[in-house]
Amino acid sequence: MRVHVADHPLIAHKLTYLRDKRTDSPTFRRLAEELMTLLAYEATREVRVEPFSIETPVAPTTGIKLSNPKPLIVPILRAGLGMLEGMVRLLPSAEVGFLGMQRNEETLEAITYANRLPDDLSGRQVYVLDPMLATGGSMVDAIRFLLERGADDITAVTLLAAPEGIAHMEESLADAGVPVSLVTGSIDEKLNELGYIVPGLGDAGDRLYGVV
Ligand code: PRP
Ligand code: URA
Repeated sequence: MRVHVADHPLIAHKLTYLRDKRTDSPTFRRLAEELMTLLAYEATREVRVEPFSIETPVAPTTGIKLSNPKPLIVPILRAGLGMLEGMVRLLPSAEVGFLGMQRNEETLEAITYANRLPDDLSGRQVYVLDPMLATGGSMVDAIRFLLERGADDITAVTLLAAPEGIAHMEESLADAGVPVSLVTGSIDEKLNELGYIVPGLGDAGDRLYGVV
């Protein structure tokens, strides 16, 4: 699995304010979107494109456009929703599917409670958005779901990742048979005994949308 840490000073700067516990929800939402747009630039390096002809006011030339089928963006609800706008801003013609997953805070196992995805993802490049890769349970389940439907190139995009979650992805998806990559803003130190990323930013869903 290819792991890319987007270590740009603007990303580190915005992550600092995202991590700060004094940051309020409106600011947190804006920063999550802005960070996603910066990460999207790295995550889409291999997006499939094809040449086509245009004419400038001066001469004919060849440009590129996104290939069909268009990429699919899959935010993992709830917290992944906070990254969606930042991604579609750069890829406005992509389609969007949804997966709802929630981690049981005691067992740390993820359950899937919602799915609005095409049944057939053959030939699709898929971008899975979730701010947090902690144990990796939610992301691995989401990617398996996409592989079962035929996705043939998957990029997970997270704001933060724990080493434990990356190791879990590497072990569990070694036999994926298609390219799987992770693009993240930071690899943090570890998970604590409650399964939270350290230093992390706390509960991303709660900081975006409140405690429900
Ligand atoms: C958070 C986060 C990930 C998951 C990460 O979601 O957004 O989906 O936990 O943890 P894992 O790597 O150990 O699976 P949560 O289950 O809190 O749901 P929410 O987005 O609705 O808040
Ligand atoms: N989910 C979160 O929102 N934060 C963590 O630190 C771990 C899982």
